[in-house]
Amino acid sequence: MIVKKLKLLLLITLLTSTSLFAQKMIGNETAAQKQKRMEWWTQDRFGMFIHWGLYAQPARHEWVKSIEGISNEQYQKYFDQFNPDQFEPKKWAKQAKAAGMKYAVLTTKHHEGFCLFDTKFTDYKATNIQAKRDLVKEYVDAFRAEGIKVGFYYSLLDWHHPDYTMDENHPLVRKDKSDEAYARLNKGRDMAKYRAYMRNQITELLTNYGKIDILWLDFSFPKPNGRGKGKDDWASVELLKLIRKLQPGIIVDNRLDLGDYKDGADFETPEQVSTAELAKYKGKTWETCQTFSGSWGYHRDENSWKTHKQLLDLLITSVSNGGNLILNVGPTARGEFDHRATSALDSLSQWMHANNKSIYNCTYAPEGYKAPEDSKLTYNPTTKRLYVHLFDYPANGKLVLPGYQGKVKYVQFLNDSSELLYKDKGSDDLVVTMPSKKPDFSIPVIELILQ
Ligand code: GLC
Repeated sequence: MIVKKLKLLLLITLLTSTSLFAQKMIGNETAAQKQKRMEWWTQDRFGMFIHWGLYAQPARHEWVKSIEGISNEQYQKYFDQFNPDQFEPKKWAKQAKAAGMKYAVLTTKHHEGFCLFDTKFTDYKATNIQAKRDLVKEYVDAFRAEGIKVGFYYSLLDWHHPDYTMDENHPLVRKDKSDEAYARLNKGRDMAKYRAYMRNQITELLTNYGKIDILWLDFSFPKPNGRGKGKDDWASVELLKLIRKLQPGIIVDNRLDLGDYKDGADFETPEQVSTAELAKYKGKTWETCQTFSGSWGYHRDENSWKTHKQLLDLLITSVSNGGNLILNVGPTARGEFDHRATSALDSLSQWMHANNKSIYNCTYAPEGYKAPEDSKLTYNPTTKRLYVHLFDYPANGKLVLPGYQGKVKYVQFLNDSSELLYKDKGSDDLVVTMPSKKPDFSIPVIELILQ
């Protein structure tokens, strides 16, 4: 009997300890603890991404150095010229707040390698440009003062660092991809030294600026031919341990290539995907990152700016699938949001001022609530209110809520709490009488107070 029990115990231990059955863990946080840590983020729903760096001067994509195969020497002119005389982060913070954005993430260093913060580990930094300012410090102070949560983006890639080895994205091998070029250019480069540099800088960022709410590390691209980079190149496990030690409450994205670990990331980051694709993330923890026009850095000649309605669609569709939206602004080299960004933010402000209750603290609708034609639903589980976003205003004066009979207590427009009359008898459907004049919003919202 005892032998049998012992055998069983051995079997159970074996089963639970093999990687086949137990997903690996880096730390020991429980699911409940994680949920608590992530709570504000899953409720806030809407953030501002800011991509700013030397690339704002060429103004033709933040990847310009790689795309055009530019060397450090050729790129130096942007460092020498950079002088953001209109940089007033208080203005940025006010614009973000007005648009209803509750958190922000700024590029402290993008792939080009230029550091917007003061650092002991390189001279390639903002305190050495003409303006001699720690741009990150000013951003942190300004956004915090507006009550906006503060996040840092830090690029894992670095096209300026002398120890960062060649890979398929590196500017220096864009034109010559031969093995000889790789061997020649990698001579004397030492990724171990670059890893130390990253750890040192991330330590600075997470020590010198107070509480940091989010860290957005970007990005991994492991390749079987060795011409990519992934968790071993960054020493991701050790890096994440360090991050969690320095800032236990911080929320970290999923681009460290730690998919094998249950706790290797806090959220998924579908980038520039269509609204139709967002449905497949339902049930996960995620944030879609999106630009106004295509590139992340300021792009002077790009003409593909999304319309107000498209931006709203992204926000509403994200929440209606239980996710967040982080919308990007690429300030100009002078440090301003240009007029196109400003007017996009202004129109979002108007909508959010009147309708933000359908966004904050909301998620997808409970089982059994189908979206009426041409609309999308969000739901606040605490207040039990359901929000119907009217993408096309009903032309015939009636809105049919399919199968809603007996489920609703009161109906009103969200923007002004004006009552909407409805019929709740005779069929499964509930029919709301709509005023002929559409409220003055591109996408009006109806608030249903459920039984
Ligand atoms: C990408 C790009 C980059 C941008 C980022 C935002 O990985 O490399 O330019 O910063 O996505 O999600």
